[in-house]
Amino acid sequence: MGEVRVRASVVGLGYVGLVSAACLAEWGHEVVGIDADEGRLAALDEGQLPFFEPGLAELVAGVRSARRLRFAGPSPAAIGSAQVVFVAVGTHDGNGGWQTGSIRRSLAEIVPHMADDSTLVIRSTLPPDFIQSLPWLVSALRRKAGRREIPVLTNPEFTREGSAIRDYMEPDRIVMGIGFDPHGRGESMLRKIYRRASAPILVMHAADAALTKIGANLFLATKISFANELAQLCETYGADVDRVVAGMAYDPRIGPSFLRAGVGFGGSCLPHQVSMTVREASAVGLSVPLLAAVEEVNTRQRETFVERLWRASGARSGARIALLGLTFKPDTDDLREAPSLDIARALIERDAVVVAYDPMPRARVTAAATVAGLAVVDSATMALVDADAAGLVTEWREFALLDWEALGRLMRRRVVVDGRNALSPEAMRAAGFAYSAFGREGTLIAVDVGQPAGPAPLAELAEDGPVLRPALAFDAEAADTLRDVSVAASMFDREASSA
Ligand SMILES: NC(=O)c1ccc[n+]([C@@H]2O[C@H](COP(=O)([O-])OP(=O)(O)OC[C@H]3O[C@@H](n4cnc5c(N)ncnc54)[C@H](O)[C@@H]3O)[C@@H](O)[C@H]2O)c1
Repeated sequence: MGEVRVRASVVGLGYVGLVSAACLAEWGHEVVGIDADEGRLAALDEGQLPFFEPGLAELVAGVRSARRLRFAGPSPAAIGSAQVVFVAVGTHDGNGGWQTGSIRRSLAEIVPHMADDSTLVIRSTLPPDFIQSLPWLVSALRRKAGRREIPVLTNPEFTREGSAIRDYMEPDRIVMGIGFDPHGRGESMLRKIYRRASAPILVMHAADAALTKIGANLFLATKISFANELAQLCETYGADVDRVVAGMAYDPRIGPSFLRAGVGFGGSCLPHQVSMTVREASAVGLSVPLLAAVEEVNTRQRETFVERLWRASGARSGARIALLGLTFKPDTDDLREAPSLDIARALIERDAVVVAYDPMPRARVTAAATVAGLAVVDSATMALVDADAAGLVTEWREFALLDWEALGRLMRRRVVVDGRNALSPEAMRAAGFAYSAFGREGTLIAVDVGQPAGPAPLAELAEDGPVLRPALAFDAEAADTLRDVSVAASMFDREASSA
């Protein structure tokens, strides 16, 4: 394949823009990474990345030393020499909604200076109505500057934090949304850019592309909430959600991915797009009960986890609770919409002493600055010392590899609530732990079905070591409900007799 180098600028050097810039440079293009944040630019110039993404530091260092990537502010010079300008500025308002202020400002800054034969490509995720107005907005800016029209395309981002480089270099599909491209110049420029990627290229209207991106995220969120609903059924009927999902997954229409029960989804994309869609639908009179339920289930998962962990700790003021993991998922230091933050706040509100550890130092610092009263420590061991209970919030691999047997001796009680179904129930029990998770058979710690509602049956049971009796209910309140469910009662009898 012959060399086809393109001069590209990428505006907005966050999770999306910096990965795009580095990967484009790795493909041989000449890239200028542009950001309005001078502090970020200065740090990048010194080789410090604003966030962690596996392999990105090395990639950036490599393409910078090969002189295919440099950083600059949004100056006319940095924009005017580009054949294609990608825009990847943030579009969240920090409160579950959209903000289009950053992209409007960015477009006002860059569009007048773009070369007449260049192409504008929007990589940020934006509301579909804004996407529809984009060509007019750009056209007005060009006219005002006395410049010719330029093609306006969108190119939604499907990479996942934690595997963004591989996802970018080996995408499963490339979506090109056409906003304004009467002669196909923009499309052929994007095809040139992605020449090295062997993935299907889908060319569609910009509104289709916007909904392809949002629809994908809504579906993924739905799968997670579905798995959590299923986990609840599994808990009620004494089944194991992991085995149930494994059994379901053989049907190619279903598949195994994203059907994981736990504390629910977080991050900058899924929660935002679900809540934004629910909100905007209501504003325009649409009914979206499925998505409203997806959001509700996700919120409930966090609350359920808090309740389980609180009871597990003894449910008393001053109970010491270790939180393992702060980031919204492993292999990132991103705390945006991370379940850990809500969980820590809720436990602190109940007067627990919450001590958290995450392998990402930046996440620890940010979490401590974000959640009043949260203590962060530098190792899982430090978090677990004297803990009345531990809650696993992020499935970092190191937590599964801990010597739980030894660590259990440092805790006040050997009790773990696994919010990601990431630990082996058998191994945890063998290490002397009372273990609870989501929808896993026998992992909900038993209480007597007749026991009155009260504090921390789990903790009491755990004082003397693990209780291996299969269980139907984690707490007395749930037990009350179950008492009325004959199928549950009969399963309890059956399981108890086989224990
Ligand atoms: N993070 C993800 O995994 C992900 C995935 C898919 C899509 N997206 C979408 O991509 C977009 C960017 O997300 P992100 O997570 O990279 O955001 P981010 O907040 O990490 O980064 C945004 C960057 O844009 C810069 N910026 C803001 N205004 C600017 C301006 N006027 N000129 C130049 N730079 C400016 C900021 O300084 C910052 O560096 C959003 O629309 C988001 O919804 C993100």
